[in-house]
Amino acid sequence: MTRSPVTVTVTGAAGQIGYALLFRIASGQLIDAETPIKLRLLEIPKAVTAAEGTAMELTDCAFPLLSDIEVTDDARKAFDGTNIAMLVGARPRSQGMERGDLLEANGGIFKPQGEAINAGAASDVRVLAVGNPANTNALITQAHAPDVPAERFTAMTRLDHNRALAQLAAKLGVSVAEIRRLAIWGNHSATQYPDIFHADVGGENAAEQVEQDWIRDDFIPTVSKRGAAIIEARGASSAASAANAAIDHVHTWVNGTDEGDWTSAGVVSDGSYGVPEGLISSFPVTARDGRYEIVQGLDIDAFSRERIDASVQELTEERDTVRRLGLV
Ligand code: NAD
Ligand code: LMR
Repeated sequence: MTRSPVTVTVTGAAGQIGYALLFRIASGQLIDAETPIKLRLLEIPKAVTAAEGTAMELTDCAFPLLSDIEVTDDARKAFDGTNIAMLVGARPRSQGMERGDLLEANGGIFKPQGEAINAGAASDVRVLAVGNPANTNALITQAHAPDVPAERFTAMTRLDHNRALAQLAAKLGVSVAEIRRLAIWGNHSATQYPDIFHADVGGENAAEQVEQDWIRDDFIPTVSKRGAAIIEARGASSAASAANAAIDHVHTWVNGTDEGDWTSAGVVSDGSYGVPEGLISSFPVTARDGRYEIVQGLDIDAFSRERIDASVQELTEERDTVRRLGLV
């Protein structure tokens, strides 16, 4: 049976994450090994030629599933008919820039992209914001696409989730495959809260297998500051691991989570766990029938509550800033 192609738009296609992402999408790792892919690469005018170079390389791979590639600097063209929008391109923080300046600069990117998604994306469009500040960029995009269900807008915290899995696996000397039900809460920033109190390793609670000091003084800061540690070591922010997490996020969204397990994603809050409705916050989520759903009914103790609240407070402040700027 021949499957219908899926149109995937990648913004920031000439950037370092784009280079680590596009070849994996085109090779069949995003959806499955049977679904043909049409790629739409969006860049700013001065990076279009570089994106065209990447498109030439994609062509030269002769991927059987890659049915079409278009490179453009026009958001309307890039999102026309798109099924999956991976918003990677963003304005990096430059010297002297305050958080508010960064949010304003990104508003200039994500507002028109939201409008273009609203105008022309496929009716089943799913959107993932990777570009930082990812949660608030997703919120800006969603605010400008009122005809698209809010649940289709997500922000990437899967990299944080994968980092947390790797740290816990190393501590316990187990494979990451043995860990289930770990969660990232809040913002994709240093305030995020990686939570192992509901996690299970080999049928036993993860938090009971490690010292409490290790959770507080080692695990949480290592995971939440990993992005900065990579920038320090590499002289550039994470790229291949970020692209890998973006693939994981979309693959899980489309194909579902395993029974008895969950993952983490920034999704629109329905008010669960006291997170104000409408914020795009990371939660433990399951994916079923092509939808991410917040895991309900978890007991949150005082240690976790304090950390979730701090990260959600930061998200609220970011939302208030972009509200003042008229971006949401
Ligand atoms: P990069 O600077 O190498 O590439 C960004 C690309 O985006 C550039 O080619 C630039 O021309 C393009 N761009 C800028 N404005 C655009 C617009 N309006 N439309 C289309 N393209 C545009 O950066 P990178 O390393 O690829 O990282 C991209 C973003 O992802 C950054 O914001 C980074 O902080 C973020 N990031 C997020 C996570 C996460 O876990 N959520 C992890 C790593 C990096
Ligand atoms: C990461 O988590 O690696 C990035 O979000 C860091 C950054 O600031 O680009």
